[in-house]
Amino acid sequence: MSTDARHPFLDGLSKHRGAPSTILVIFGASGDLTARKLVPALFNLGLDNLLPADFRLIGYGRKPVPDEAFRKSAKEAVETFSRRKLDDDVWGNLENNITYQAGGYDDPKAFKALAEKIAEMEASAHHPFQLVFYVSTPPSVFSDIVVNLGKCGLAAHSSQDQRAKIIIEKPFGHDLESAQALNKTLTQHFDESQVYRIDHYLGKETVQNLLVARFANSIFEPIWNREYVESVQITVAESVSVGSRGGYYDKSGAMRDMLQNHTMQLLALIAMETPVSLDPESIRDEKVKVLKGIQPLNLSLDENTDVVRGRYTAGLLDGEKAKGYLQEEGIPADSATETYAALALQINNWRWQGVPFYMRSGKCMPKRVSEISIQFKRPPGILFSGSKQFDIASNQLVIQVQPDEGMTLLTNSKVPGLETRTQLVKMHFRYATTFGSNTPEAYERLILDCMVGDSTLFIRGDETEASWKLITPVLDHWKECGQRGVADYAAGTWGPPESERMLWRQRHQWRSI
Ligand code: BG6
Repeated sequence: MSTDARHPFLDGLSKHRGAPSTILVIFGASGDLTARKLVPALFNLGLDNLLPADFRLIGYGRKPVPDEAFRKSAKEAVETFSRRKLDDDVWGNLENNITYQAGGYDDPKAFKALAEKIAEMEASAHHPFQLVFYVSTPPSVFSDIVVNLGKCGLAAHSSQDQRAKIIIEKPFGHDLESAQALNKTLTQHFDESQVYRIDHYLGKETVQNLLVARFANSIFEPIWNREYVESVQITVAESVSVGSRGGYYDKSGAMRDMLQNHTMQLLALIAMETPVSLDPESIRDEKVKVLKGIQPLNLSLDENTDVVRGRYTAGLLDGEKAKGYLQEEGIPADSATETYAALALQINNWRWQGVPFYMRSGKCMPKRVSEISIQFKRPPGILFSGSKQFDIASNQLVIQVQPDEGMTLLTNSKVPGLETRTQLVKMHFRYATTFGSNTPEAYERLILDCMVGDSTLFIRGDETEASWKLITPVLDHWKECGQRGVADYAAGTWGPPESERMLWRQRHQWRSI
């Protein structure tokens, strides 16, 4: 069988989605991400007949686990976390192709054993496989894995035109220097085209729709610039607290955990120029230009600052009492880690000069909501002004990333009646009502894209570095300041008042959600 053998059910469907025979090795196989996202994503791909005709999964981890026990925990993961119910036939096929390999991440012998296992699989299948390595471990061992994959020859594995691929989970470094070091290690053993840096926000349906909304409609592009746009606001709010993740979170904080990656990616897609084509490099070229065009931030501790950080204190979440961050498990009493961060950015290019881009993200917010809102300039108030009955507000286009995915356009309208009164009204498009609610999870799309070799929704090395270049001075400044400048907000509120004040300075305010 040749490597580009496709599942027979795919006959007649777009060849683009047919991945060649693949062995996927997950490093960090006993971790949370594997159970919550990766194994359920594979099952759902199987259910949609989108897995390669010959697909094998090797779970790799430090703990010795018999194959049977790993399969059992994988099945439980599907039962608990999959968006669709377990199907015995589909699971049976997948399960037969799951094995486990124990080994250290810094142990060259264990990687040699992995290479031998893969060679045996190829020999008994009588065809080569494309190899995909998914690095889903703590970041401290990323480099060891990359180096050992290089040394044992697996990084150079190639079957026909398919070179081995490596997916790297976040966090991709913790500052500019560490991101550069990781990029360097990666490119010593892999070509950039083999590297898939994952940001699961890019796999979300609404985020992919940003490209379609912007470039497949002719009504938005003419007004998508400083002539018409007053400001852009990106909110990624979570209602959950840090909970049991304190050990990880206290070393990360909202800026590293959410803003440097997920929120910055949303900004790049919203602000980028029209790419010359939809090929991955054209899109990523435009994204990186935006990131490079963002002006350095003002980090003063007074009202001129472009950055605000906050930390939740005890409050009420959904009517229930919630602890403050410092009372969470595993958080040191002298922690200066932020659970909320907001930024006011300026992009210095022809399209956006003078238009502020505000971004905020936090834990323990009143609700879980991610949205991008484009605030348009107010109409000149010659006709409808000067009277209380005219409540003329700016138009807004709100892209709801999650939950309740969709898009809303806010326009001024006449209130029915004999007198002329105006009011802001909403036009809604909802994914769930238009297309039904069973949209694929981000990881399904991203794993499939990697298997078929489409890197559009993955982050290129220069993108990560451009983003860290902007954020690292903020992190250094915060480190110097220690606790100074960490503003409190009660759990269940929209962040510290300092964040509101940052927008007031430019006569703006956060959209109330
Ligand atoms: C992860 C962060 O990358 O994204 C978590 O580490 C956060 O802290 C999560 O909760 C949010 O993802 P989503 O898809 O639920 O918005």
